[in-house]
Amino acid sequence: MKNMLVTGGCGFIGTGFIRLLLLDSDFDGRIINVDHLTYAGNPANLTDLEKLSPERYIFLKADICDSDAMTRIFDWYEIDAVCHFAAESHVDRSIVAPDAFIKTNISGTFNLLEVARRNSDRLNLFHHISTDEVFGSLGPDGYFTEQTAYRPNSPYSASKAASDHLVRAYSKTYDLPVTVSNCSNNYGPYQFPEKLIPLMILNAIEDKPLPVYGAGKNVRDWLYVEDHCRAVWRIMQKGTRGETYNIGGRCELANIDTVNLICDILDERLPRANQSSRRDLIRFVKDRPGHDLRYAIDCSKLENELGWSALETFETGLKKTIQWYLDNPQWVQSVKSGEYLKWVEEHYEAS
Ligand code: NAD
Ligand code: DAU
Repeated sequence: MKNMLVTGGCGFIGTGFIRLLLLDSDFDGRIINVDHLTYAGNPANLTDLEKLSPERYIFLKADICDSDAMTRIFDWYEIDAVCHFAAESHVDRSIVAPDAFIKTNISGTFNLLEVARRNSDRLNLFHHISTDEVFGSLGPDGYFTEQTAYRPNSPYSASKAASDHLVRAYSKTYDLPVTVSNCSNNYGPYQFPEKLIPLMILNAIEDKPLPVYGAGKNVRDWLYVEDHCRAVWRIMQKGTRGETYNIGGRCELANIDTVNLICDILDERLPRANQSSRRDLIRFVKDRPGHDLRYAIDCSKLENELGWSALETFETGLKKTIQWYLDNPQWVQSVKSGEYLKWVEEHYEAS
């Protein structure tokens, strides 16, 4: 893998993956990061890499749905591996406006697969990043395994399920060398503050209400983003072509417990002026339609076959994450105000 196309590298997990590969791994090729820079993509996350190793990191603003652009990029950069993160990723947005999810997650993935198929002589691997949400919702017991049937419940998870099926079909029908990973909820630095953990951290810092959906009893299985990125790289290097791998944190928490923990860590690091607990800020609000009750991943295939395990516990990972948001007020300000979008407009034209 000398010329790796990473899609969606300016988003939360893509940023973590590119930083891992270029700063802290045995990868010795170059990365071509293709990102359309939606509201969720921020190229400033990686500008230090553009300066540090311009020969190993190339950023191109382009839409994965643009077939001509993807064809030119594959040819010009002699792409021999793909790690496909680009997606519309937020469930609540998919409920309000599903169109972009269908376009990017389904048509965009289809388009990339077609271009990859035309370049299959050179291609070592197409790794597709997916989610545990394709499996639907668990009751109080049991785990998602690689054999669990797909039962997506939101437009987001349905669009991801469709993209997984397309990847599988290209493996079976055209013998495209693919791997797929289905991961649980990530948290960590650079996450856009519409997702539960960064939203709660930033609202709690600013003494704003903390909106918890329903009774706060829904359970998520949390994984620190760097652990996810290490798992993806391990699968790309050692995974069996044609296989799927579940990635999870073995860390189930009800949302209310997650929010309480965030409040407690912040109270300790940054006590409120009146010394009271930030738990006072919690507000139970209207539930998300079709809200999946519980996700929990059985990641023993990845652990046993590829020797991966998570390095962070929820407590160590959450403390690091909170500290990162406290240490990076400029990033927070530019993302919350949308300033970075103006900067993007001035600095980047479509490739
Ligand atoms: P994100 O929303 O933070 O980033 C998505 C990136 O894709 C952004 O940089 C955006 O600009 C880019 N993008 C969107 N549409 C595009 C298009 N048409 N062409 C090119 N680029 C486009 O998402 P994330 O949380 O980093 O998730 C990355 C991937 O991981 C997604 O495929 C998501 O489904 C999957 N995933 C996320 C989680 C999680 O907890 N965040 C868990 C499991 C799987
Ligand atoms: O499981 C993997 C998935 O995790 C990824 O595929 C998605 O891209 C990612 O967004 C995430 O989906 P969730 O819907 O689980 O994440 P979110 O952060 O939006 O919500 C986590 C839980 O917190 C969920 O049960 C809804 C709840 N929630 C969320 C928000 C934003 C609240 O109670 N209040 C909130 O304000």
